[in-house]
Order: sequence, then structure tokens, then C-alpha cells
Amino acid sequence: MKIAILPGDGIGPEIMAEAVKVLKALDLRFEMETAVVGGAAYEAAGHPLPEATLNLAKAADAVLFGAVGDWKYDKLDRPLRPEQAILGLRKHLGLFANFRPAICYEQLTAASSLKPELVGGLDILIIRELTGDIYFGQPRGRRTAVDGHFPGTEEAFDTMRYSRPEIERIAHVAFQAARKRSGGKGGKVTSVDKANVLETFQFWKDVVTDVHKDYADVELEHMYVDNAAMQLVRAPKKFDVVVTGNMFGDILSDEAAMLTGSIGMLPSASLDKNNKGLYEPSHGSAPDIAGQGVANPLATILSAAMMLRFSLNQEVAAQRIEAAVQKVLSQGLRTADIYSEGTTRVGTAQMGDAVIKAMG
Ligand code: IPM
Ligand code: MG
Repeated sequence: MKIAILPGDGIGPEIMAEAVKVLKALDLRFEMETAVVGGAAYEAAGHPLPEATLNLAKAADAVLFGAVGDWKYDKLDRPLRPEQAILGLRKHLGLFANFRPAICYEQLTAASSLKPELVGGLDILIIRELTGDIYFGQPRGRRTAVDGHFPGTEEAFDTMRYSRPEIERIAHVAFQAARKRSGGKGGKVTSVDKANVLETFQFWKDVVTDVHKDYADVELEHMYVDNAAMQLVRAPKKFDVVVTGNMFGDILSDEAAMLTGSIGMLPSASLDKNNKGLYEPSHGSAPDIAGQGVANPLATILSAAMMLRFSLNQEVAAQRIEAAVQKVLSQGLRTADIYSEGTTRVGTAQMGDAVIKAMG
């Protein structure tokens, strides 16, 4: 089994070092190969996703990804910006299904900005379509407007689009995930759209409804995205699986993450049609705290656990890591982002060491 390790920028290398330590502490044999990505790759090779990095990611059985981005690259031409690395990996590896669980650990309920009774025990799964929508739709660009409110002036445009097969495959993923979470049968899927305004999302709604015919045991609910944003902070536990397009999923998954107290806790998986995947923390590169040894490595460590489960068929090892994370939280160890009075503040490396120790 070969794992591509792509630490990236900002806190990426620090949190990745802890996840690699945890993987090495397992009694499994992996080959791990590291490559530059994002701003670090731009510095080293002149491109955020160098050929060698992409080839490594393609050849590996799974990719563990840290984070990319730094304000200092905001002025570069778009194709050279760090974010293009993650978008390029998603596109070239066909990673269309993005799993973003939002789980509120009992030990961290107090860290949420919402009342404990609203988020205690929260366990929802956002499934975001990841290779289509306005993120990748062509054409896009800048031009002189020929119509609209101000003809003759400069304008920019993007294209929102989805094809039937793109919607069908992500809908299947969502219904199957709902079943799995409910022990093989049942569960609920909330499909989030903007069918009241957008043609693309009326089509989305129609296609999801068609696919649902194969999953009579799963409850399907449709919700407009603005309402979904509101319901997520009003009564988040009413959701089970949420499925939506690339852009709405980007926004709602950050909102859902924050319900849990800290985005520093949440792993994510981006899978292709064969369950090969890229695994990354849901948070970004946090350049403001990079290099200080204070970042929370748990989202990356939990991403490694997801990788073991989904792509490497190592369920036992995945559970071992997850149980160890629960244990360190119960011991009261906290990085700065999840610290509260009465707990013990630790740094990035101490947290990684504690997880390894808790694995026994
Ligand atoms: C995410 C990020 C990315 C996205 C950026 C970095 C391109 O926000 O993974 O949610 O918008 O998809
Ligand atoms: Mg995002």
C-alpha cells in the first residue's frame, strides 16, 4: 500500500508530521512518499501542482493532504495560486464525492458557539459534489458586456452547470451513505438546492428525485440552500445526510463544521468511483499560526483514520485511531482552538504523542 503525503503550506507540515507519526505507530506496512504541493510547490517547482506530485498522487492507493494557501500568493495569476493544487487534484483524480462529517464530540460540546442542547451528540454528514458546478463550469472569464445592466463595461462571468450523470452518481453516494449510517437500511437524505431560482438546481432536484426511486427505505427531503443555512444553526440534529452541489457544499460544510466547536477537529474524504481517495482536514492552512506548534493535528489524524477505512480497507486500525482521539479528549488534553478552562493546553506535537500513547 502506497500513501502519497502532501503536507502543503502554513500549518500543513506540522499537522501532517503528527498524522505520519500516528500511521507509523500502527503495525501495518505502508510505503509513504512525500511531495510538495500548493505554495510550497510554487516556491520549489514554479507550479502549485507539479507533474511529479500529480503522478505520485495518481500512482498511490490514497493521498493524505495537509492544507494549502497563504495570503502572500493572492496576487499570483490564478493558475499559479495554491488553491489550484487542490482543485487540480480533485479534477485529475476524479474525486467527485466529498464526505464532510460534522460530529460534535461530547467532550467538546462547550466549545461550540451554539447551546449544548442544540449540538450535543450532533453527527451529520455533508456530501458535497466536488468536480462540477460553478467551480469547474466553462465558459468563464472577463469580457466587455454586450448586454445586461451596463453594456460596454467590463464584466466577469462563471458558468453553473450539472449533467444528469454527475447528479445521479452523487445522489447514489448519498442514499447509500444514509443506509450505511442507519445500519444498512433507512436514514434520511436532505438534498439542498436553489430550485426556486436556478435552472441547474431545479434539474438537480428532479434528478435526485429520480434516483430516490431505487431507495424507497431512505427518506428524501428537499431544502433550499438559504433555509438549510438557517436550519443548520436552528436545529442541526434534524439532519442526517445532506447532499448538495460544489458551491453550496463549500459554504454549508464550513457552517456545519463550526457547530462542532472547532473546524480543527474535522476530517474529510474525497473519493473517486473506485473509493480511491484524498483525505484532508476540513480546515485550511492557517498561515497566522504556522510554525508555532500550536495547531490542532486531530483533523489530520482523523483524516488518516478515514483513509484507512475507505481506501485501504483497514477498519480495525481506523477505529484504533478514533478511539485514541476520544481518549485524549477525555483526558482533558486540548490544543488552543478547543481549549476551555479546566482542561490542559497542549501543542501540536504533544497532541500527536498523546494519541500514539492512547493507541496503546
Ligand atoms: C474547501 C476549500 C476549497 C474549496 C478552496 C481552498 C479551493 O474552501 O475545500 O472547502 O473551495 O473547495
Ligand atoms: Mg471551503
